Order: sequence, then C-alpha cells, then structure tokens
Amino acid sequence: MTEEAAARAAELRAQIAQHDYRYYVLDDPLIPDAEYDRLMLELRALESAHPELITPDSPTQRVSGTPGGSFGEIVHKVAMLSLDNAFSEEDVQAFDRRVHERLGVTGDLDYVAEPKLDGLAVTVIYRDGLLAQAATRGDGLTGEDVTPNVRTIRAVPQRLRPPAPPLLEARGEIFMPLAGFERMNREARERGEKVFVNPRNAAAGSLRQLDARITASRPLTAFFYGLGALEGAAPPARQSELLEWLRRLGLPTSRDARTVRGVAGCLGYYRELGERRSSLPYQIDGVVYKLDDRADQERLGFVSRAPRWAIAHKFAPDEALTVVRDIEFQVGRTGALTPVARLAPVFVSGVTVSNVTLHNIDEVHRKDVRVGDTVVVRRAGDVIPEVVSVVPDRRREDARPVQLPERCPVCGSRVLRVEGEAVARCTGGFTCSAQRQEALRHFASRRALDIEGLGERMIEQLVERDQVKSPADLYALTLPQLAQLERMGEKSAANLLAAIEKSKQTTLPRLLYGLGIRDVGEATALALARHFGSLERLMSADERTIQQVPDVGPVVAAHIAAFFASEEHLRVIKALRDKGVTWPDLEPAPRSTGSLTGRTFVITGTLSSMTREQAQEALTARGAKVTASVSKKTSYIVAGGEAGSKLARAEELGVPVLDEQQFLELLGSDGG
Ligand code: IVH
Repeated sequence: MTEEAAARAAELRAQIAQHDYRYYVLDDPLIPDAEYDRLMLELRALESAHPELITPDSPTQRVSGTPGGSFGEIVHKVAMLSLDNAFSEEDVQAFDRRVHERLGVTGDLDYVAEPKLDGLAVTVIYRDGLLAQAATRGDGLTGEDVTPNVRTIRAVPQRLRPPAPPLLEARGEIFMPLAGFERMNREARERGEKVFVNPRNAAAGSLRQLDARITASRPLTAFFYGLGALEGAAPPARQSELLEWLRRLGLPTSRDARTVRGVAGCLGYYRELGERRSSLPYQIDGVVYKLDDRADQERLGFVSRAPRWAIAHKFAPDEALTVVRDIEFQVGRTGALTPVARLAPVFVSGVTVSNVTLHNIDEVHRKDVRVGDTVVVRRAGDVIPEVVSVVPDRRREDARPVQLPERCPVCGSRVLRVEGEAVARCTGGFTCSAQRQEALRHFASRRALDIEGLGERMIEQLVERDQVKSPADLYALTLPQLAQLERMGEKSAANLLAAIEKSKQTTLPRLLYGLGIRDVGEATALALARHFGSLERLMSADERTIQQVPDVGPVVAAHIAAFFASEEHLRVIKALRDKGVTWPDLEPAPRSTGSLTGRTFVITGTLSSMTREQAQEALTARGAKVTASVSKKTSYIVAGGEAGSKLARAEELGVPVLDEQQFLELLGSDGG
C-alpha cells in the first residue's frame, strides 16, 4: 500500500510541476484551475495519511507555518546591480555610442529588449536543481533572506527541470499582475482594511512578510532575466540564450523580450511596447536594453552599481485630467507664499492626488490656471505631482483667474514681492503664525535641534495658545503647560520636556541650520561653522568675508548678513543663550588651500556610503568647487548609482568619471 501511495504521490507531484510549468513558463495551461486544485487536494490527503512521503520539494510544502522573527541577511555572491535610466531617444543613442566607443567597434549591435517590470528584484539560488535560497536586492551587496516567502510563489519552481547545474542563481523580478492587485484591493476595501497604492508597493509589502502564509495568500508572480552565480555549466554566450535556458530550466521569463538590432531596433521595440502598455496584464515603467553578447558585457563592466552594457528606457510619466476646485496660498517658513491647487481627487500612476503646488504666481499665470479649469496632472514614479497644462476646450465661462493677494492670508501683513524675484513673501516675520510655526518646526527638526516628540500638532497648539513665539520660548515651557496640550499625557509631557532639555547641548552647525536663515541648508551651515568656528565670528563678518566660505555666493551671503542684522534675530539668539542652550566653538578651518583647490566636481546619482551633501561637503572642505552641471571645465564627475544624463554628458566631453570607490580613495588619500 505504501509503495502504491508513494508512486501516486510522485506522479501527482510531477503532474503539478508540469502544470505549473505550462501555466507560468509556457503561458499555455492544459487543465482548468479546478482540475489543478483537485490534484493538490489528492496529494495533500495522501501526504497527511502517509507523512513519511512528504518531500521538501512537494508543492504542498510551499507554505511553512512558522513565521520567523526577522529576515536574515544573504551576502550576494555576485553583486545585484541596478540600472541607469534613459529618458529620451537621445539618451539611448548616447548609450549606444558609449558602448561602441568602449568596445571599439562599428556597425549595429544586437540588444535584447525586455519590459521593465514594476516590482522588486530577487535572486533565487538552486542547488542541484532544488530551490535553496531567495533574497531581495537590498543594497546590492547584501539582501534579505526571503526564502520562505519566495517559496510560496507558484511561478518560482521548487525544482528545476533537468539537466540543472549544481549551482544556479537566477535573477528576476517579483511582481503583482494588475488583475490580482485590483482583486486584492477590492477585497481589502470590503473588509475595511488598508489598500495598497500601486502594484509595486503591493508586491514589496506582500513579499516582505515575516509570516510566509500571508505572502502565500497574495497573487504574486515572477519573471527571470539574469544570472548570478553559476557552477558546473558553461554560461550562455548571449542574453537571448540565457533567457531561453532559464525557460528550459522551468523559470518563467517575459514573453515580450526580443532581440533587436541597433538603436533603431531598440526604439522600435520601445514604441511598440509603449502602445501595448495599457493593455498588458502587469505594470511596466519602461523597457530595458541589454547588450546581447555576454562576453562584450564582461568587457564593458559596470560603474557604481550600474552596468555599462544595459540601460532602462523609461516611459513618459502618467497623466490624468481633473478639475481645479480652488487655488490657495500657503505661507512657508521664510514667508514665501506658495499657490497650491486644490484638485478634485484624481488617481495618477498609483496614487490619489488632490493638492498640487503651483510653485509661484508667475507659474500660475504662465500656465494660465484658473479656478474651475480642467487640467492635466502628471506624476512620474515617486516624483511630486504637477499641473502640466490647462485643457482650453474645457474652460468654463465662470473660471476665475487668481492674483497674488496683497495681504498675507494668515496674518494679514502686507505681501511683498522683490523686483526680479519669483517669490512673494509675507512681511509679518515672526508675527505671522504660519511663519512662526514653520520656523519652530524647522528648529526642532531632527537635523536641527532634534527635539524628539515636538511634532507639527504640538507646535500648532503652542503657537495657537501663544505660549511659544520664538524658538527661545520652547526652553521656558513647563510640565503643566505641556501636559495641557491635546493628546498629551503626563508621561509624554515629561518625555518632551526631557527632550527639550537635552536639545540644549547642541552644535554650531545644527544651530545655524536650525535658525532657518534663508538658503542656509545643512551643508552650508556646516561650511559656515567650519569656516568661522564660532557664532560671534560669523555674526561680525561682513558679506565679503562670508563669501569666502566655499560654495557661498553673494546672494546667500547677503541673506546671512541680513539675518544677523535683524534686532529680532539677535534677541532670539541672546534668549537661547540665556536659557542655557550651548554650542561649543569649532576649530576654524585653516584658510590655506586644500588638496583639491582649483578642481571642479559634479556629483550625480546616488552614493551608497554618504549623502550627496556629505560628498559635497567633503569636497569643498578640501578646497574643491562643486557645480551642478557638467562642462569642459569640470575636472571630475563623481557618479553614484542610477546616474543619468550628467554621466552621459561627462563621457561625451571626456570628463574623467570617478565611481564611488575611486571617489572615496581620492578623499582618503589626503588623510581626511
Ligand atoms: S536587469 C544588471 N531587467 O529594474 C542588471 N532589471 O532600475 C540589472 N527591473 O533592480 C537589472 N525589469 O528590479 C533588469 N527586464 C529587467 C527588469 C529589471 C525590472 C528592475 C530591477 C532592477 C531595476 C533597476
């Protein structure tokens, strides 16, 4: 009997694996879902009657019932790279040109063009044909171990189809097809639960579940498109052959991948897929071109996390139509009046948009946006939504143009617009509660005085009750005052008081940043602190002296000088001191020239070991100049991950490119 059962179990497993393959890889199912479910049911029954028959690769074992406490780490044997982006045909041409130049070849090259799926990258490791491990990309070098989660995805086979090499690491994308996404959200809504904003977030959120049973219930699928580590088999010579091989092994690949010739072939594919984009069953945000010849790929290598042999050609951002219900003016920290369009909520590339900044009054007039107008709203990926244009045909007769108000909508002070400036400002200063509130929020923020627990709501109440007029007043607050605020208990009031107390020991750069001087961001605050060493020295410096600070131009210098010329600001600084706020002096930086004096740098892309501001700071501290755009005068370009057009431009101009490693070496070579 057991022998018979064992044979039947093996047969069922083989049948189920075959059906998975037909369904996910060949996209050509042989049997209806109900029949498939019946096979699973039978196998489950057999296994529960004869638990000794259960094998680790049985389809019943996809879901393991014990949630782990956290994700382990997996160090990638082969780094998981990202892709540089191209946003125009020119960008693609420049990419192809660079490939030609680096390879030293002429004539059209073959590329494989693939859809760029909007999901998350995974790597899946098979040992002797059996699914052994799966990980997310993480930072490219180390990812999270999501093996139990990936195991629940039916599109990912538990066992490769023979002949499988002893070790194969396949790279691909986990994503949620649109139909599944919509169904899942509909059901969540019916249950009154939270819905996912887009398929990408839904896929990421579903995969990164500590309880794999939750992942199992989500409609995830996968496509594979790359190779990581490989042992015991010759790697395919071409990307197109790699895709075929992965398919033969039972790993699903995109049916829409094609080999194309030259830039013309790439762009033709881009247009064709762009036309089909809205009818595809999954969300894509562009296409990826990869050099077909893998030996040539090797020759080209990569710069800072992105291969030189591949590029992502993005689709134009998503757009939608909606109506402007109102245009209001918001008052910011520096008094700037920003017109904001209140829109009838509209869904654009995955999110609902109802407020869009119009930046300044000139922009409103240039686009001629009026209240009541129908407008085109655009949102690309994570980019802030914008009003692209007005639809003139839909303008209603009673559409109302807006003008800059003469009085601040918050405090009623006069609104002033300096000649030649786009921004209009409320002249109320600290008497304007909007400005006060924003200034306090900024002062307390994490990168400034870092007062934990002093959130927007708290500040709003403190300002409304007139308990806090300037940052110095924060240090006079008492426990009973704080405890009276809404949503504030004894305990949190005590915590907040302690946080306020703690913030008294601060640093000069934090203070300078926290004061909210116009155009003085974190990097400038640090540069000023380093240069002058003490607040007194900065306060007594004139505009010309301030301009000697690296990266401080005449406009910023004027703002700084004006700030310290104001009686009110001097009072605030004195009051801060009197209340016990202290910031130790710094060693003023030597005025002598740094190791990089006379060199000009451009920083582009994302660095993994520091922020761009820190990189800029490190360079200016060494006497270098950092500019925004690449020209012939640029000495070096520092290219982080996802570097785009600036990198291309630098390569065109023959400007030397430093990847992150080389950049760090350059900084390190002068001893800090
Ligand atoms: S190739 C060196 N191919 O896009 C190869 N990536 O923006 C690097 N992606 O991290 C990846 N579809 O998550 C590749 N057909 C495709 C892709 C693809 C989507 C994702 C992937 C990658 C990101 C880079």
